[in-house]
Amino acid sequence: MKIDGTHYRSLWWDADARVLKIIDQRWLPHDFRVADVRTMQDFADAIYQMRVRGAPLIGATAAYGMARAMDEDPGDANMDAAWTFLEKTRPTAINLRWALDRCRAALRPLAPAERAAAALRLAHEIADEDVEINRRIGAHGLEIIREIASRKPAGEPVRLLTHCNAGWIATVDWGTATSPMYQAHDAGIPLHVWVDETRPRNQGALTAWELGSHGVAHSYITDNAGGHLMQHGMVDMVITGTDRTTRRGDVCNKIGTYLKALAAHDNGVPFYVALPSPTIDWTVSDGVAEIPIEERDGAEISHIQGRLEGGGIGTVCVTPEGTGTGNPAFDVTPSRLVTGLITERGVCAATEDGLAGLFPDLARAA
Ligand code: MRU
Repeated sequence: MKIDGTHYRSLWWDADARVLKIIDQRWLPHDFRVADVRTMQDFADAIYQMRVRGAPLIGATAAYGMARAMDEDPGDANMDAAWTFLEKTRPTAINLRWALDRCRAALRPLAPAERAAAALRLAHEIADEDVEINRRIGAHGLEIIREIASRKPAGEPVRLLTHCNAGWIATVDWGTATSPMYQAHDAGIPLHVWVDETRPRNQGALTAWELGSHGVAHSYITDNAGGHLMQHGMVDMVITGTDRTTRRGDVCNKIGTYLKALAAHDNGVPFYVALPSPTIDWTVSDGVAEIPIEERDGAEISHIQGRLEGGGIGTVCVTPEGTGTGNPAFDVTPSRLVTGLITERGVCAATEDGLAGLFPDLARAA
């Protein structure tokens, strides 16, 4: 997407310097900083420290990490070591393991001398595919928004609510949940997006930055406001992303998503999830019981980063000294609360039949 007139992807390969370029998301929305990812440690840090974040983006980053590993030493032992080293960086988003598995399966049969070039080609392929998947999700989601708009008086905005950042910077481009928003906006459909703050890391500020850069009307709200807005008929549709969706349609996403789904269900508000197929974990049925939930550092709760009065970026502590914290980063929304899954192949029910109907090839292979 464009920032100040320049089109960016959230990562790109610098062939001359042989480094991966990323937008370092730790500084957004205050500073737009591009960083180099060079060593295997850089790759692991970039994912764990959330310089890159969002399920599809960490998958694509891991694929470039595997390419780096093959460049250093294309042997089987190093391939397996790189898989393990990168896979443990974040446990919940399945795209990470999906990308690493795909790389390893494609590279293993090749002669070691061929692996470095093949791994880089594969990383480019995974990145390009992600862009196309998200563009298609946007086209299918646009039709849902168009239908809601058609039931409203002319000129009245469709009011969406989203949680976390499932935007273009959480993917390689377009975003998942935001792709329908961008495409609806570009098609001239008036929109207004309620953007959940998404404590503790305030990924909502990233979404607000993205939407603002694209000219989409939005308001930043506290995580606790959504239920109230829904009760008062101020939300037409919720769209979120997902970090892992089970084959039965349970949706794991940023902590707090479940509460939005409960409120939407209670108020008859459609709750859609934008789901790229690499985010489906076909090996898992019951999301609550089976998906590992990342527990992150308590400092993310006790401290908030932002722009300081003086202009720099800094953190402030919001808790009394010594207060204990709990920081589960994701939760699971059971499929019964999900109105539909917006995938690159169309929209389906959040059920085993719905997903297998759209993806018979993937369901069979699992
Ligand atoms: O912890 P994060 O910021 O990586 O979590 C991101 C989310 O929960 C997104 O909604 C999800 O990864 C989908 S991104 C298209």
